[in-house]
Amino acid sequence: RIPLYLDCDTGIDDALALAYLLASPSAELLGIGTVSGNVGAAVGARNTLDLLEMAGRADVPVAVGSHHPLAGAFHGGAPHVHGENGVGGVSLPPARASAVEGSAAELLVRLAHAHAGSLRVLAIGPLTNLAEALRLEPRLPDLVAEVTVMGGAALVPGNISPVAEANIGNDPEAARAVFAAPWRITLVPLDVTMENVLEERHRQELLAAPAPLPRALGEMLGHYFGFYEGQYGRPCSAMHDPLAAAVALGAIDLACAPVVAVEVDAGDGPGRGQTLCDLRGRYLGYPEQPGAHCRVVLGLSQDFAPHLMQVLLGARQLVA
Ligand code: BDR
Ligand code: CA
Repeated sequence: RIPLYLDCDTGIDDALALAYLLASPSAELLGIGTVSGNVGAAVGARNTLDLLEMAGRADVPVAVGSHHPLAGAFHGGAPHVHGENGVGGVSLPPARASAVEGSAAELLVRLAHAHAGSLRVLAIGPLTNLAEALRLEPRLPDLVAEVTVMGGAALVPGNISPVAEANIGNDPEAARAVFAAPWRITLVPLDVTMENVLEERHRQELLAAPAPLPRALGEMLGHYFGFYEGQYGRPCSAMHDPLAAAVALGAIDLACAPVVAVEVDAGDGPGRGQTLCDLRGRYLGYPEQPGAHCRVVLGLSQDFAPHLMQVLLGARQLVA
């Protein structure tokens, strides 16, 4: 099984990613850190603990991470997208478990040492905790097997500015440090996540599931669909974070994923938060870029929704 550290800002699509990981037989979820993004880091931890307990997995340690980005202050979250409580206003049964002592960055460093060479990191929120972990342990890139990041926009517009996607744009300084570090990164940007959606019929299937967690996900998606209806013209939503989870596990076939240089704009101009992916090799036939270490997922060769639904509904782990 794949040893995994998850960093998240739970969040409706984060909740789907978490459920997907818990239901995936190939994933061994060793620890979770939360970061401010969709909600504050402490609220995200609460949501995560509640979801874990619903799935009968209160054993997974959750550490509260950074409340503020590396520079400036947390902006207050995205209630219009994820609801005031981050999970679309759905009341989850409160978990008995609490977050563990220590920061998310400390948890990540500890797990990286304990599983040196094999730990995979999946980041589906702003990259503050990962940047702090790099400061705490500069050898982290040698210890971690691979980092998968949901974030950025390579050839499409951003979603919080003309060029910035939320996870990158909410802490560009952290993202810049994470992309500059010499580890293998797989970026799962809006280019591919916006193309892979769940539809109302999928939501109805979740609502009809016997287990409480898939049903709660179906309820949350009501809120998420409401937000995305403005973009797609029908009730459905992008599956940003679950798609990144599937890519991190190697569970989905990729059609287009060039390895290129990626830099994050952390300046104060209109490009702040942009992921500058050097795709000239791919589109203009330029020579390979020495030192490029970021695989940018631009297309899949299979439909993601059926895979996601099969895992979420087929899972024994979620049938409490
Ligand atoms: C990303 O931002 C958050 O709102 C989502 O959870 C996802 O991780 C999409 O831009
Ligand atoms: Ca997220």
